Amino acid sequence: MKAIVYDRYGPPDVLELREVDEPEVGETEVLVRVRAAAANPLDWFAFTGTPYIARPGFGLTKPTGKRLGADFAGVVEKIGSKVNLFQPGDEVYGTTAGSFADLVSVGQDVSLAPKPTPLTFEQAAAVPVAGLTALQALRDKGSVETGQHVLVNGAAGGVGTFTVQIAKALGAEVTAVCSSRNVEMVAALGADHVVDYTREDFTGAFGDTTCWSTWQAADHGPTSSASYDPAPQSSSSAVRRPTACWGHWATCCR
Ligand SMILES: NC(=O)c1ccc[n+]([C@@H]2O[C@H](COP(=O)([O-])OP(=O)(O)OC[C@H]3O[C@@H](n4cnc5c(N)ncnc54)[C@H](OP(=O)(O)O)[C@@H]3O)[C@@H](O)[C@H]2O)c1
Repeated sequence: MKAIVYDRYGPPDVLELREVDEPEVGETEVLVRVRAAAANPLDWFAFTGTPYIARPGFGLTKPTGKRLGADFAGVVEKIGSKVNLFQPGDEVYGTTAGSFADLVSVGQDVSLAPKPTPLTFEQAAAVPVAGLTALQALRDKGSVETGQHVLVNGAAGGVGTFTVQIAKALGAEVTAVCSSRNVEMVAALGADHVVDYTREDFTGAFGDTTCWSTWQAADHGPTSSASYDPAPQSSSSAVRRPTACWGHWATCCR
């Protein structure tokens, strides 16, 4: 089979499309023929070996995992002897190391799910890493619940678009921060309030009580809100400023 592989860290030139062995299928594993794979910042970090703080995970001097990619959607081709959740022919999506390949092998209980029928393979492949990042931050770490106010900085991005929708689904009131070109799109995702950061400095605005009530944060009290920050360039201290009054702060930034 073919896969995108890399033997050393560096620029995109280190990536090669190469003939490699098919993955082995363990007793509880499922072999999936990949129909679509999605790229994330994670893939960039993996082959460039940056940031250096992540090197223990990627391999200190050279990559330990040589196959690129994480997100995928495809069709089950073969199952291990103890697999009981999937059958050959099932349409699935998930995440595993080395998804930029013809085939991936993944544990049935680890990170694999039936593909929702209305989604194309391309749409489903775009969900796992970014969607799980948002879900884990809001539900598992932030314990967001109905009535809370969630501020999503970087709302128009890969993680941010999921964050807005999941926060709404959890019952929160959402204020989304994005640039002018994305205001309509973010509002269409369900954000209750949209701040265009090219026109307004939201980090300063929240220090002012008047602006608090503009965004209705004051209605919910000082510890009832969460902030989620996938904007890559935002300053942590600047984002902490408004959210220090609100309660939780989560980030997935570098
Ligand atoms: N994608 C993933 O699966 C994933 C998983 C874990 C962690 N992360 C990390 O999360 C961060 C974001 O990743 P992503 O995939 O969501 O990136 P992305 O798709 O590039 O989105 C980043 C967003 O940040 C917004 N932005 C830029 N400058 C801003 C500013 N000054 N104020 C507010 N928003 C601003 C941009 O919105 P405008 O276009 O409106 O300017 C852009 O949509 C990265 O640091 C990444 O490493 C990503």
